[in-house]
Amino acid sequence: MSETFKQKRNLEILIRSRYPVIYVVSSEEKRVVEAVGEIGRRLEKNVYCWSCLSGLALQAPPSQLQKKAPVNNATRDPIAALKETMDFKDPALFVFKDFHPFLARNNLAVIRSLREIAQEFINSLKTVILIGPMLNLPHDLEKDVTVLDFPLPGPNELGDLLDSAAREVAANPNLTVDLSGDAREEILKAVHGLTLAEAENVLAKSLVVNGRLGVEQIPEILTEKRQIIRKSGLLDYYESELSLTDVGGLENLKQWLVKRKLAFSDRARGFGLPAPRGVLMLGVQGCGKSMCAKAVSALWNLPLLRMDVGRIFDSLVGGSEENIRRAISIAEGVAPCILWVDEIDKAFGGLSGSSTDSGTSQRVLATFLTWLAEKSSSVFVVATANNVASLPPELLRKGRFDEIFFVDLPSRPERANILAIHLRRRGRNPAAFDLRQLVEATDGFSGAEIEQAVVSGLFDAFYDNGREVTTQDILTATLETVPLSQTMLEEIEGLREWCRARTRPASVNGQGSGKISRLANLPLVEGGLS
Ligand SMILES: Nc1ncnc2c1ncn2[C@@H]1O[C@H](COP(=O)(O)OP(=O)(O)OP(=O)(O)O)[C@@H](O)[C@H]1O
Ligand SMILES: [Mg+2]
Repeated sequence: MSETFKQKRNLEILIRSRYPVIYVVSSEEKRVVEAVGEIGRRLEKNVYCWSCLSGLALQAPPSQLQKKAPVNNATRDPIAALKETMDFKDPALFVFKDFHPFLARNNLAVIRSLREIAQEFINSLKTVILIGPMLNLPHDLEKDVTVLDFPLPGPNELGDLLDSAAREVAANPNLTVDLSGDAREEILKAVHGLTLAEAENVLAKSLVVNGRLGVEQIPEILTEKRQIIRKSGLLDYYESELSLTDVGGLENLKQWLVKRKLAFSDRARGFGLPAPRGVLMLGVQGCGKSMCAKAVSALWNLPLLRMDVGRIFDSLVGGSEENIRRAISIAEGVAPCILWVDEIDKAFGGLSGSSTDSGTSQRVLATFLTWLAEKSSSVFVVATANNVASLPPELLRKGRFDEIFFVDLPSRPERANILAIHLRRRGRNPAAFDLRQLVEATDGFSGAEIEQAVVSGLFDAFYDNGREVTTQDILTATLETVPLSQTMLEEIEGLREWCRARTRPASVNGQGSGKISRLANLPLVEGGLS
């Protein structure tokens, strides 16, 4: 059953059960109005539509659609319109378009009218349906209004759109639509995640520019799609060439990811496997968490959407709760995909503290967690965090993520691996270096610090008349580095302690493999280092 079909049915159930005021969140007003029209015909109720331009007017059935929409000037004011709905005697559905600005302004008369409607309509066959692209419900109305998300169009609806475009174009000798072979399915996959109007625009643009629409136009369609996703301001369509072989060590984590490569395929479903939910990577800074998130996308061949958690809480973009719902809905539209939530501790950290906005953050977190626990869509969440102390415990409860990995400082073999990766990346043959000596010298270094030492060595050699870099150059660079593991000794030990019982080590050798070196010689300050 398609998501849209399910939501149409849910809407009908709410109407039949006499829910008085329903808020449908959707940026596709036309599809919602059509759905309400269908329900109205089935339940033999008249449908009235309101907009601030035309007031509250009867919606004609599709067979008698007039050229000009009817106008009822006396009810252009929202309060007058709401009042008029109360005076109706017959069963009716009242659709209010673009109503969110009137709610956002905290207009007391509008809120009061809706509360009275909510009380009165329970005993009537009338329903008020508010449609808006974003949810902005004043707290006073939370108990009176039922919220329903209307999903983006599914493959069937997009397929109808594509087929009707092909039919329309058939008579025009200058335009070709080629849906042969896999083209139809591939194009549908490419427009998945767009609203019907957006998909229509993208297809029309491709026809206008190229005179044809076929598999060759898919890269163009994807570029347009990236633009549309970026416009939301909440998700970034991340393009990364990184592969798992660029990540040194972390074999447990890598193997776990490789095993799930085909997890979203129909074959895996048929085999009885559940779709994976996601993975949380906790760990020391600069040890490859973000790298792994990027590499999964290439490994699984799925688009990577990065959620900018800071933007979710940015009031200029929209209400925080609305933003998280919108981000989730876009990701679901693009599914199968990977949703990368980087540094999740920064967003939800300190919720238990006395943060003044903790109410909002709590609700955003709750929305995210409920979705994570209940989602049926093929969105795989990759979340990363450094600071476990501030992570809300709900996030770590069973049933949220499939696995929680601890990414520790690299062990000896891992450091050798990372050194080789970074030497090779810069066109050097690792065999020409004394890796054993370098591995010893980088004890307690993170992957990022090892990379930095290699780069530093290269700089020194280049500065010295461009001679070839040697093991000694890199050794010198390591001596000049004070690794984070020294300055953050207590934090890292605390993190290891915490993770020991709660997480799975990302590295084969288990946690604590990368010893924090030089500590024996470190002049410890009374009471620890800050
Ligand atoms: N295991 C590794 N293998 C190869 N390179 C690594 C590894 N870990 C870190 N690096 C290098 O360090 C850089 C930073 O790593 P990354 O951003 O993945 O760290 P992180 O764990 O996400 O850190 P933070 O917690 O600070 O976000 C990478 O771009 C990479 O060049
Ligand atoms: Mg990172």
